[in-house]
Amino acid sequence: MDKFVINGGRTLNGSVAIGGAKNATLALMPATILAAGTSRLFNTPSLRDVNTMAVLLRTMGIVVELKEHTLTLDTRRIDKFEAPYEHVKKMRASIYVLGPLLARFGRAKVSLPGGCAWGPRPVNLHIEAMRKLGSEIDLREGYIHAAAARLQGARIHFDVSSVGATGNALMAAVLARGTTLIENAAIEPEITQLAEYLVTMGARIQGIGTNRLEIDGVDDLHAADVTTIPDRIEAGTFLVAGALCGGSTTLTHVIPEHLAAVTAKLEDAGAVITTAGDSITLKVQHAISSVDVTASIYPGFPTDMQAQWTALMAVADGTSVVTDTIYFDRFKHIPELLRLGADIEVKDNAAIVRGVRSLAGAKVMSTDLRASASLILAGLIAHGTTEVLRVYHLDRGYEAIEKKLRALGADIERVAGEEF
Ligand code: EPZ
Repeated sequence: MDKFVINGGRTLNGSVAIGGAKNATLALMPATILAAGTSRLFNTPSLRDVNTMAVLLRTMGIVVELKEHTLTLDTRRIDKFEAPYEHVKKMRASIYVLGPLLARFGRAKVSLPGGCAWGPRPVNLHIEAMRKLGSEIDLREGYIHAAAARLQGARIHFDVSSVGATGNALMAAVLARGTTLIENAAIEPEITQLAEYLVTMGARIQGIGTNRLEIDGVDDLHAADVTTIPDRIEAGTFLVAGALCGGSTTLTHVIPEHLAAVTAKLEDAGAVITTAGDSITLKVQHAISSVDVTASIYPGFPTDMQAQWTALMAVADGTSVVTDTIYFDRFKHIPELLRLGADIEVKDNAAIVRGVRSLAGAKVMSTDLRASASLILAGLIAHGTTEVLRVYHLDRGYEAIEKKLRALGADIERVAGEEF
């Protein structure tokens, strides 16, 4: 298992190109199941999670090839309608095959995802949506067994705004007979891209970008190409790195609007941010001030940036409160930040962060994707050497983060094959 060795205290300067969005790609790949043909996904990030989805789709008979950030999927010979536990347990997003398999083939057997690093993440809303669309659902031996001769349009009102359940319901409804209404739909940019992609495949969807989607089912769809949107969470992570380390950091290949909640908080904390077309530049001229954030659904502050923000607030001037309204116990990074000398207390779904003058390097353990990103960020400014262990978590969602950080001037190295 690889680790990162970071010698902290370097200022960051320069430009970094942001890759395609992991969470858009993980929805677009299963969407190709809906039509027989060859689809190309341009600007696909080379990530462990993308590979996990590719392996799963191959077990169904889909030919999947990733070459220089272009993913080609051939869905003409699908002959297996199942997502086995071995795959689903590695990545919850595997559940995204449920809607497309059911819609195109009238059956699906999908493992329930099981637990997650930071607590319960049920899929009841996905299951309820399929039931509403007329599917027989039988939960047996840890699997969702779903069957329907043809799905029927229906009204689906989500009690909670869920990215995944909205995506699954959307992909199921596009081939259903009649009209489906999805109310309290998620409006994250990744869902908007999915809906737009389905329209290029021939789907009929109104209200894209709003939380009320109206889908007129069609009899069939065709394969189509798409260019994946930039990863707003990778971008946010690099902006926080720039705010922590000082200097001037420019991100290219971004959509600044997708980061509005993050850049607004960075400005409140004292960073100077300028945007031009598809680039954002962040400069820091004085100490970062403490600023409270409350993670919520889009366009609010993303929960996937909560841990990174906590790392920034750990050395900010003053005390801040970081609250997460999406995941009440997404604080596995805190005990590790304490090992670096941070002063943080967790109460219910909030972290009270008392900024300290400096952090000191130590060995810290990654527990999940965004928690490990916060440890890397803290290591960039900690005195001495920080070792971030088990970075396979990071490789799930960041492509070559150490190379990109080194290009900005950080002293970070990947050390392979250590047992711990
Ligand atoms: C997506 O997960 C992202 N993953 C997550 O990013 C992200 O944290 C999350 O949305 C919230 O923005 C992907 O897109 C692959 P939800 P998802 O359904 O779809 C509850 C990362 O770091 N809920 O919007 O699983 C749920 O427990 C990952 O890149 C139910 O109760 O999230 C949570 O509290 C981590 N029942 C809330 O809704 C359900 O059936 C939002 O979850 C579904 C969800």
